[in-house]
Amino acid sequence: MATVTSSIAVERAKESRISEVDFKNLEFGNHLADHMLVVDYEDGQWQNPRVVPFADILVSPAILSLHYGQSVFEGMKAFRTRSGDVNIFRPQKHLARLNRSLDRMVMPAIPEDIFLAGLQALMEVDHNWIPDPDDGTLYIRPLVFATEARLGVKVSSTYKLIIMTSPVGPYQSKPYRLKVENHFVRTAEGGTGFAKCAGNYGGAFYPTQIARQEGFDQILWTDHKEHKYIDEVGMMNVMFVIGGKLITPKLTSAILEGVTRDSILTLARDMGIYPVEERRINIDEVKEAFTKGTLTEAFGTGTAAVVAPIAVIHIDGVDYQIPAAGPTSFQLQVKEKLNNMRLGLEPDRYGWNYIVKV
Ligand code: COI
Repeated sequence: MATVTSSIAVERAKESRISEVDFKNLEFGNHLADHMLVVDYEDGQWQNPRVVPFADILVSPAILSLHYGQSVFEGMKAFRTRSGDVNIFRPQKHLARLNRSLDRMVMPAIPEDIFLAGLQALMEVDHNWIPDPDDGTLYIRPLVFATEARLGVKVSSTYKLIIMTSPVGPYQSKPYRLKVENHFVRTAEGGTGFAKCAGNYGGAFYPTQIARQEGFDQILWTDHKEHKYIDEVGMMNVMFVIGGKLITPKLTSAILEGVTRDSILTLARDMGIYPVEERRINIDEVKEAFTKGTLTEAFGTGTAAVVAPIAVIHIDGVDYQIPAAGPTSFQLQVKEKLNNMRLGLEPDRYGWNYIVKV
């Protein structure tokens, strides 16, 4: 647990839009809270952090992010604990990943003091947008993009960090139907797959649209060379229970290093229900486990998705059905443990909760 105080300039919105939100029926990301944090990168440093009313911004159509894709984001969450505190989950871990993504895109790292003080200031003005724990959470979306306006292909010299927030319910309420992709690729080893850059998502739209037309929700991406080893789902990491072991693809440069992935693996090792293996997973192994009945669970993990059950995996033209996750399933037990920890119902054994005084 840690606390900070902030001293960032704040311009408050004249009127709040919070009454427009039906907190009992939250979807993902269709309401944005009243304020945003804005920080400029100019003259070689991040400067002028300020909280302002959430509003459109004026940019030149020539800014380099729009043309050449220097745009990176993060996804984090703030919770209202059962005792009423505001808890941001593992912000330093998210910042470390943001800075790795920025580094890959030749963009300047965000200093920790600006990031944490900015979050503190945002929570001070918009903490009433954090839903009641039974209704949802506040999704926090930091975005960094190049703002230099010119057409030459170059690294931008100026950037903006904007942090916006959104009260959210579940990303998807029903279990996922996934299609194993064996033609398109999301990324390749040595590419940008581990970074949360905009292009990774835009590039996945076309194959995902085809998968949707075929009746699937998302793609289960495989390696770019042979389409043989499982990478991730694009919006979440993936985990399986096979033969009494919790198995997940080991991280490579093609896989996003999920903060939820790390949290679930840490909790799993502590809970000791199943041995944990981080290793390559051959798609044939998954097929065989289905056939033998040894694949008992499959689920996705992510900030938006949290722990999301997978119902179907489509491999080479066949829909393999996964048993519904019952109350004693590993995924429901670990999800409850994670949630209890974030809501302050269980001790914060790993120092993951960042309590903000508001
Ligand atoms: C997240 O889990 O934060 C994601 O980035 C997934 C998606 C909303 C882009």
